[in-house]
Amino acid sequence: MLTTVTLNAAVDVTYTVENFALDQVNRAAEKKEIPGGKGINVARVANTLGCPVQATGFVAGQTGRFIKEKLAEEGISNNFFEIQGESRRCLAIIDPVGNTQTELLESGPEVSQASFAAFQEHLVSITAKSPIVAFSGSLPGGLPADAYAKLIQSLPEKKVILDTSGAALKEGIGARPFMVKPNEDELEAFFGRPVRDLPEVLAAGEYLLSLGVEVVVISLGARGAVALSGEERYLATPPTLEPVSTVGCGDSLVAGMAVSFLTGKDLADALRLGSACGAANALVPGAGEAKIADINCILPQVKIEKL
Ligand SMILES: Nc1ncnc2c1ncn2[C@@H]1O[C@H](COP(=O)(O)OP(=O)(O)OP(=O)(O)O)[C@@H](O)[C@H]1O
Ligand SMILES: [Mg+2]
Repeated sequence: MLTTVTLNAAVDVTYTVENFALDQVNRAAEKKEIPGGKGINVARVANTLGCPVQATGFVAGQTGRFIKEKLAEEGISNNFFEIQGESRRCLAIIDPVGNTQTELLESGPEVSQASFAAFQEHLVSITAKSPIVAFSGSLPGGLPADAYAKLIQSLPEKKVILDTSGAALKEGIGARPFMVKPNEDELEAFFGRPVRDLPEVLAAGEYLLSLGVEVVVISLGARGAVALSGEERYLATPPTLEPVSTVGCGDSLVAGMAVSFLTGKDLADALRLGSACGAANALVPGAGEAKIADINCILPQVKIEKL
């Protein structure tokens, strides 16, 4: 079983409003509410791939209950840890006429030191039968930058995938996760300088390997992804497509790779499935809502080159 961890779970609310205007009364033609947050996106794609998966993290209040109920309806088993307060709602207003997307993100509940300690124990107990644990997204308020590092250290037997940014990524890498998956922006923030062409991307990946990470995957949007592990270096290139929304492509890549590793696939095969999931995610408006038919159709079109 795969476990995905979303410390800052949310309900993603999307309103479709034609000709959205500031300082006016706007009427929504459509409204969609689904559980969101990057680890939940990973769980959704793993579920689509037919992989047993459980989602965990912190939830709070009514919004938290909604997250759990909706995930259960989607067939995603979940084992969240409840805290005080109210889980966040992230609002997006999509205007198909003006072609704009306006977002309003709540910050979510603060996590106390006591809740974090209790969650750490909860996580260890619920992952007994889960060889791979994926941590995705930013840290909620109240937690120090080394929160992921601490959680990783409490799971020494697990293959941990860490997909985060900024200080949480820096500190987390210090705990030697099995895999990291920065995108270009996250990589540049990590190194504090531009990382432009393929040789620079590879050199950055080599450095992350030298810090003790076993698998480094650097995602490059439509240009694909680079994977490094041991002596292996691969470049995956997805087919060219008309993207509808690329939000959650990285989460989908993580899901495809995690599911592959769970079923004993090698790095090249994992990168191929991950890339197909990422590209399929670009074909749908929602994050992590890639269709299995798209994934299967794209899979043989992903080009894998040994570098
Ligand atoms: N426009 C696109 N066309 C085809 N494939 C894409 C496109 N955008 C992303 N992908 C696929 O998805 C993978 C991950 O994308 P990306 O690098 O944008 O992740 P990300 O920035 O971490 O996304 P997020 O954090 O929103 O999930 C890419 O390596 C690629 O395989
Ligand atoms: Mg990402």
